[in-house]
Amino acid sequence: MSALLGELAERLETLDDAGLRRSLTLPAGRDFASNDYLGLAADPGFADACAARLRSLDAAAPAARLLRGTSAAHLALERRFARFKGAEAALLYPSGWQANVGLLAAVIGPADRALSDERNHASLIDGLRLARCAKVVMPHGDLEAYGEALRRPWPGRTFVVTESYFSMDGSVAPLAGLADLAAAHGAELIVDDAHATGVFGARGAGLVEELGIEGRCLAVISTGGKALAASGGLIAGAAVLIDYLVNVSRAFVFTTAVPSAVLAALDVALDHVEAEPQRRQRVLAAAGELREALGRRGIHCPGVGPIVPVMLGTNQRALDVASACQRAGFDVRAVRPPTVAPGQARLRVSIHADHQPAELEALAATIADAVERLP
Ligand SMILES: Cc1ncc(COP(=O)(O)O)c(C=O)c1O
Repeated sequence: MSALLGELAERLETLDDAGLRRSLTLPAGRDFASNDYLGLAADPGFADACAARLRSLDAAAPAARLLRGTSAAHLALERRFARFKGAEAALLYPSGWQANVGLLAAVIGPADRALSDERNHASLIDGLRLARCAKVVMPHGDLEAYGEALRRPWPGRTFVVTESYFSMDGSVAPLAGLADLAAAHGAELIVDDAHATGVFGARGAGLVEELGIEGRCLAVISTGGKALAASGGLIAGAAVLIDYLVNVSRAFVFTTAVPSAVLAALDVALDHVEAEPQRRQRVLAAAGELREALGRRGIHCPGVGPIVPVMLGTNQRALDVASACQRAGFDVRAVRPPTVAPGQARLRVSIHADHQPAELEALAATIADAVERLP
């Protein structure tokens, strides 16, 4: 083994000792881990509909969008998504990660300042690193702190960057308050609506819809890899913003276009979101059932909606309870640092529209039993 590989092996050992080593495993057990909130991926009809839709599309060439990679289906999907999000235009990236990094690095510069929620996703954090702007890490959802920071004078532009529905906490950003503050102080608001799209809002268009701030953000990012059961990242905003990103966003320009199979899946998923409000009603009800069943057993989970965090503290406690769930047939995963802060390891239970009351009750009993047995 070379010196470098030996060093990497040692670093892996250190992760192992801290209960932080990960490995890739095949899914086993009932899915309480993925972001298939609407139960589309688990619905056999979804795959059939995607295959049929794919056959109706022209094949997209394997090329960057600005070369031969743009098909009529890309443009149609982007127009449809813009309408869905109540925006002038939208742009599809291969992943939500690329969308966030590509957006932030393109529109924010070294003279600017970003106010970034302390629990923002890694892709937002890395996008701000690439932007090389000044960054103020904001206490989670604390409007007063945002107000105070915005009142501090800054020579460049200020951007408020936040998730809407936080992916590890199930908490909701105070979007209306942030939009008011941003407007009052001439700042721009960027909202990552990844985990809310398809789940919240009367039309399923996310928390940006539900909290009435459509049209008040510079950009809203959604992902295809969560409730829409596919993949991809979508930025919705003004036509001029999208045109600008097409020209200068490196994560868009220098990558291969999203393939037709993903376009078909996103299109079918949007059909479901538009035609089946019962899926989002059910997932919210099911999440309430699990929270209630856990609460009855003395386990109170923060947040709202389909991301149900069971706070356990140490990595080992989280791993032990996750293992107990897995042995009982529930695919529940432990979330550990650096995904969450040290000492805040947890189960991240992800509720789906097809979860039944009896299995939610059984899962709550399994979790409570495992927590009771912890040393
Ligand atoms: C809030 C948030 N934004 C962005 C992303 C990145 O999306 P993708 O998985 O499509 O790259 C994720 C995914 O984990 C996320 O949780």
